Amino acid sequence: MAVSLYMESCLQKLVSYFDKAETRIKNQNIYNRLTAIGQPFVASDLRIAAKGLHKLKLSGLLDCSKLLCDAGSADGRIVALATSCFGIPSLGIEYDPRLVNVARQNIGRLQAMGIIRKVPASIIQGNFCRDHTYRNVHFQEIATFYCFESNSYCLANKIIKESPKGTLFVYCSQNSTTNFEGLKKLMTLSLESDSKKSYYIHALMKTHRGPFVPLQH
Ligand SMILES: C[S@@+](CC[C@H](N)C(=O)[O-])C[C@H]1O[C@@H](n2cnc3c(N)ncnc32)[C@H](O)[C@@H]1O
Repeated sequence: MAVSLYMESCLQKLVSYFDKAETRIKNQNIYNRLTAIGQPFVASDLRIAAKGLHKLKLSGLLDCSKLLCDAGSADGRIVALATSCFGIPSLGIEYDPRLVNVARQNIGRLQAMGIIRKVPASIIQGNFCRDHTYRNVHFQEIATFYCFESNSYCLANKIIKESPKGTLFVYCSQNSTTNFEGLKKLMTLSLESDSKKSYYIHALMKTHRGPFVPLQH
């Protein structure tokens, strides 16, 4: 699945930026460690994420005019990708204060370099499962949630209970299966990174109105 020339050039700038950013902060021991919430920070492969979002856009599942949230945004690379290459207004929510600072610096630098242009991009510090994290941005306004191997069941439950019908949950994992009862799985993309690792991007949607009530057996 090829991405467009514009996308390829945008992606190259981001990959090069984040490679350098990783090197710059390597001595701070931020990458490949447990974050403040006790979860490992392993960054998304930007090329895999771009291919996945591109395919979801072509399939009509991803609405680029509506707000995307990267749940567990770490160094901000998905917010950077979504805003700069897809023009999607985006926010990241991250629990770890050190990563929040890193992500805000990254977004600021990419804006100053003109790589992120005129599209809203922000990073919130907090727990994406908690109501008070959404004080300034309403949870219901978020049309697409992106989540890469974070503790996503609480988020899926919150979407099932509170989000409007049509909300998209994009879950990326090295696992080919998912089990989010109450969200409808629409598509699973199987993608391989340059280093031959397999990743799966699952697109799930809230397809019912109101909270999901499981059938009684
Ligand atoms: C595997 S990393 C993914 C980073 C980023 N989304 C990406 O794709 O490059 C998961 C991140 O989610 C954060 N995280 C996990 N659970 C969280 C929660 N409940 N609220 C906020 N951040 C969380 C971790 O601190 C970590 O930085």
